[in-house]
Amino acid sequence: MSIRIGVVTVSDRAFRGEYEDRGGPAVIAWLQAALQSDWTAVPALVPDEIDRVDAVLRRLCDEERCPLVLTTGGTGPARRDITPEATAQVCHRVLDGFGEQMRSASLQVVPTAILSRQIAGTRGSSLIINLPGNPSAVADCLDAVFSAVPWCIELLEGPRIETNPEVCSAYRPPQA
Ligand code: MTE
Repeated sequence: MSIRIGVVTVSDRAFRGEYEDRGGPAVIAWLQAALQSDWTAVPALVPDEIDRVDAVLRRLCDEERCPLVLTTGGTGPARRDITPEATAQVCHRVLDGFGEQMRSASLQVVPTAILSRQIAGTRGSSLIINLPGNPSAVADCLDAVFSAVPWCIELLEGPRIETNPEVCSAYRPPQA
């Protein structure tokens, strides 16, 4: 069965059609290169409204049964940026290491990486990860953490995800 992956773009301006969504397509392009398992994107585009982000994350986890949900955008310090708050309120557990590692890797690329408040966490058997909106940031962050994602999803009793080792080697503990 195809693995369903939620791809949520959070952006007022993309939602209003004032500019093209580039974050969502960047997430999908990265996954297309990195995943060998059969998967299907479940895309969504929402404005920077905490109730809208909360509702779409709940729907993708609880109804669409996505073992993985990636958000892009709305992680910065601007007044309208609320993606991390919405994520925190739907998650049952926060996995601090994801945010730490994504910021740390991104700081090697750009000093303003410190401005992203991106987090990750679990809701039931779904893993939710925040990514910044910039397409190059999407790739930097997924490169930095995705090797731990398949094992996390297995610990959550989700499907086994096979990756293309030329893009990302999934790490599984020995004897796992
Ligand atoms: N991380 C990487 N790797 N590359 C980037 O260009 N942009 C930063 C940061 N993280 C960036 C990055 C900037 S300028 C901001 S404001 C924050 O992500 C938040 O971006 P967002 O509000 O689009 O989520």
